[in-house]
Amino acid sequence: MSSRSLDPTDTPLTRVSTETRQTSTPRLLLLGAGGQVGHSLLRLCRSGQLPINVLGLTRDQAPLDKPDLFRTAVTQAIESFKPSHIVNAAAYTAVDQAENEPELAHRVNGQALTQLSELAAQHSAQAPQPIAILHYSTDYVFDGRKPKGQAYQPTDPVAPEGVYGKSKYAGEQALAQGPSPSLVLRTSWVFSDHGKNFVKTMLRLGQSQQELRVVADQWGAPTSADAIARASLAIVQQWPTGPANTIEHEVFHLCCKGTTNWHDFACEILHRARQLAPDLPWTITSAEQVKAITSAEFAAPAPRPANSQLDCSLTDVQFGLTRPHWSQALEEVLVRLLTES
Ligand SMILES: NC(=O)c1ccc[n+]([C@@H]2O[C@H](COP(=O)([O-])OP(=O)(O)OC[C@H]3O[C@@H](n4cnc5c(N)ncnc54)[C@H](OP(=O)(O)O)[C@@H]3O)[C@@H](O)[C@H]2O)c1
Repeated sequence: MSSRSLDPTDTPLTRVSTETRQTSTPRLLLLGAGGQVGHSLLRLCRSGQLPINVLGLTRDQAPLDKPDLFRTAVTQAIESFKPSHIVNAAAYTAVDQAENEPELAHRVNGQALTQLSELAAQHSAQAPQPIAILHYSTDYVFDGRKPKGQAYQPTDPVAPEGVYGKSKYAGEQALAQGPSPSLVLRTSWVFSDHGKNFVKTMLRLGQSQQELRVVADQWGAPTSADAIARASLAIVQQWPTGPANTIEHEVFHLCCKGTTNWHDFACEILHRARQLAPDLPWTITSAEQVKAITSAEFAAPAPRPANSQLDCSLTDVQFGLTRPHWSQALEEVLVRLLTES
């Protein structure tokens, strides 16, 4: 990677800051700037709504699976940008593919976090305060066997069943054992107007298929990348220099309010999309064309938890968050996708 691509005045993924560094203004070095959550974080930081500076790096600029390139990229970025936080939105997220690529999944989602924590700590020695790491993890660290209706607490024992969940838990552990302060937000069922996700897949299939078969026995909270970004920025304004300064390593849950299953989520996506964009060539025109099936019938390569509900009450109390219901977050994304393009 050339040093040129790290120049904050040069890359389209960065926001130029002309102000002098102040400890009260968070400076985020964002990894995974091209993903759903990374894109939302960048968009919100650039909106100017919050006093936050950001330098975003994409996969090409900071590859977590290539330790030497990653070290060079992160070191240069820390030295030039002097971040207060590193926000890691980069991850290996191909849940089914991970079953065939366990080493790569563990490298990106697990071992790279050890390297990141150590790199941040090395540079913290010259900084006024330690560089803090905000990281994302997943509901898939749980096996989902908790009875439906009972949400998982952050302190509940984990039992990931697939490679992806195991690799994400390895990342949580790497940060907890690493030298830099870390805060992990476990989230679930992420969707956005950007990138690949279930909402965009349903919109595509709803205009090309006569019938859909969607799993109805996995329950969780669809969560928009924008909701995650808003909460994340509220958190970095309070941690570690603000009220939450005592957190050294901790895991929190963060998802939208409400619970649904993939089948009902699909029906709601298509129902609301047809209302917002009646002139599109919908081939799925009624809920009857969306068939509810079991996970066993769908037979995905990777196992998924039946109960993905995450209890976020501790996060709300600790950071004073107001989280949207998933249907409200969905509405925002559908409006953007269907009426603003
Ligand atoms: N998506 C979900 O449903 C979901 C659910 C629960 C938790 N999470 C967690 O939430 C966080 C954000 O997820 P997301 O939905 O924003 O994921 P995403 O859209 O898949 O974005 C992940 C980003 O990481 C990048 N990436 C992949 N491999 C990389 C590597 N070796 N080095 C550097 N970057 C790499 C990807 O680059 P490319 O775009 O080039 O592939 C992409 O930009 C992740 O920690 C994820 O585990 C996601």
